[in-house]
Amino acid sequence: MKVQLIDSIPALREALGRHRRAGETIGLVPTMGALHAGHGSLIDHARRGCDVVVTSIFVNPIQFNQAADYNRYPRTLDADLAFCEERGVDYVFAPSEREMYPAPLDAYVDVARLTDHLCGAFRPGHFRGVVTVVTKLLLIALPDRAYFGEKDAQQLAVIERLVRDLNIPVEIVPAPIVREPDGLALSSRNEHLTAHERRIATVLYRGLRAAREAVAASARNAREVSRAALEVIATQPEVRVEYLEVVDPAEMQPVETIEGPVRVAVAAWVGNTRLIDNILCRP
Ligand code: PAJ
Repeated sequence: MKVQLIDSIPALREALGRHRRAGETIGLVPTMGALHAGHGSLIDHARRGCDVVVTSIFVNPIQFNQAADYNRYPRTLDADLAFCEERGVDYVFAPSEREMYPAPLDAYVDVARLTDHLCGAFRPGHFRGVVTVVTKLLLIALPDRAYFGEKDAQQLAVIERLVRDLNIPVEIVPAPIVREPDGLALSSRNEHLTAHERRIATVLYRGLRAAREAVAASARNAREVSRAALEVIATQPEVRVEYLEVVDPAEMQPVETIEGPVRVAVAAWVGNTRLIDNILCRP
């Protein structure tokens, strides 16, 4: 079947309602477009797990805390449609800003505590924007399952908490990080990197691997583990670390002593581009 492009909320509701009444399961893959193999792996998971796959493509203005970042975010709908077609997506939901936000919002959805650290601390309002748009997308599509990548580990934890705390009847399915052969995590923002920046950005994953090795080699002090990562990242002085933290994977709270699995998460600026990455470390 050819992928169907839908840009209106009532049209999507009607199409998906027909499938739901026929007893088919629906999988939703929320994205902001500029699709790459990281998104592709979420689509593949959904394709295997559900009868009907919907990919939403919406560059959500309310989650950007810098207008410049929003304005230069890549928008590649034609290529994205071809990508979805090839991966067997049934529906692409690509609403306009007017369709999603016909009037300024008065109602927002917030997840507290899990958003206190990492990106939540450096991008004020970001998670409120993410959680609000994801809630809207879940209420519009009413999927059985929704797919999120571990690339955005804090986002994934926050969405899992949203669904748990508000009893939203959807299963959140996590998918592992897809990386380039040299370790760089795939991201739509990688398109902003110059060839030189692209090369030096690989130091982030090498830093995270050093952290994982430190934990595997029985380091139990989180400071020691972050130091191991930061020493590697410091070999590329043009990469400016915004944060590097060792957190508990479910609660996203900083850990001092490592007693169970931890996530080491980093955000760094390479030129004018902000990249994030993380790694799960088991003692
Ligand atoms: P976006 O950055 O487009 O990412 C969409 C989904 O793809 C997210 O769940 C993200 O974790 C996943 N993803 C991105 N790069 C990945 C990689 N290298 N490996 C695995 N998964 C990857 O995240 C958003 O959009 C938005 O915040 C959104 C949830 C759509 C709300 O607007």
